[in-house]
Amino acid sequence: MKIYRATDYKDLSCKAANIIRAQVIMKPDCILGLATGSSPVGTYEKLIEWHEKDDLDFSKVSSINLDEYRGLTPDNPQSYRYFMNTKLFDHINIDKSRTFVPNGLEPDSDKACKDYDEIIENSGGVDLQLLGLGHNGHIGFNEPADNFPCNTHCVDLAPSTIDANKRFFASEAEVPRQAYTMGIRSIMIAKKILVVVSGEDKASILQKVICGPVTPQVPASILQLHGDVTIVADEAALSKM
Ligand code: F6R
Repeated sequence: MKIYRATDYKDLSCKAANIIRAQVIMKPDCILGLATGSSPVGTYEKLIEWHEKDDLDFSKVSSINLDEYRGLTPDNPQSYRYFMNTKLFDHINIDKSRTFVPNGLEPDSDKACKDYDEIIENSGGVDLQLLGLGHNGHIGFNEPADNFPCNTHCVDLAPSTIDANKRFFASEAEVPRQAYTMGIRSIMIAKKILVVVSGEDKASILQKVICGPVTPQVPASILQLHGDVTIVADEAALSKM
C-alpha cells in the first residue's frame, strides 16, 4: 500500500485528482470505478476545474459506480445517479451512456445484481477504482459481515451507515434501508485502487484497515491483499498511525 499524507481536505482532493488525471492521460479510454459520499467531492471538483482549464478529456472514458440505494429514482436528489450527474458528469465531456450506476429501480434484486455484474464483466475491467471509507470499514456498501461478498448484491444497510448518511436526507426515516453494491471481488479485480479518507472521525478505522488483521468485520482490510492500492488521507485521518 502506498500512503500519501495530505495536509488537509483540499490537498487530499488535489493529490487524488492528480492520480485520476494521470490515469485518464495515460489511457484515454480507461474505465474509472467511481464512488459517491463526501470524501470524493473535492476530487471531482478538481477534475472539473482541470477539464475546464486544461482540456482534461473524458470523451473516451467509461465509468462504473460502486453502488445505488434500492428504490430511489435516478432524478431523486439523494440517489447516487443524481449525485454523479450533478457532482461530475454534467460538468465534463464524458458520454453519459457509458457511465454506469446500479439500477435502484429494479425491484427484482437478483436481476439488478446480475445485470450489473454483466456490465462489469463486459467492460473488460476497471483500470482505477476510487473508494471512500465508511466509519465501520465498509467499501461500497459491503458492510461488516462474516464473509467477504463476491459479486454485486443487495445489502441491508448497517445502522451506523444509516446514521452516517442521514445527513443527506430530511430525516433518518427517509434513508433507504437497502442498496445494491458491487461486491468485494468486483472491487479487488480493479487494476489500481485509490482510497480517499478525510477527518479525525475516520482515524480509528483507517488504522485498523492498514495495520489490523484482514477480516470481513473490517471489509476494507482486504485491500492489504491488493497489489496496487494508494491511500490519500489527511493529517486528521492519519492521526492514529
Ligand atoms: C459511496 C460508497 C461508500 C462511501 C463511504 C464513505 O459510493 O460506496 O462506501 O464511500 O460511506 O462516505 P463519506 O465519504 O461520505 O464519508
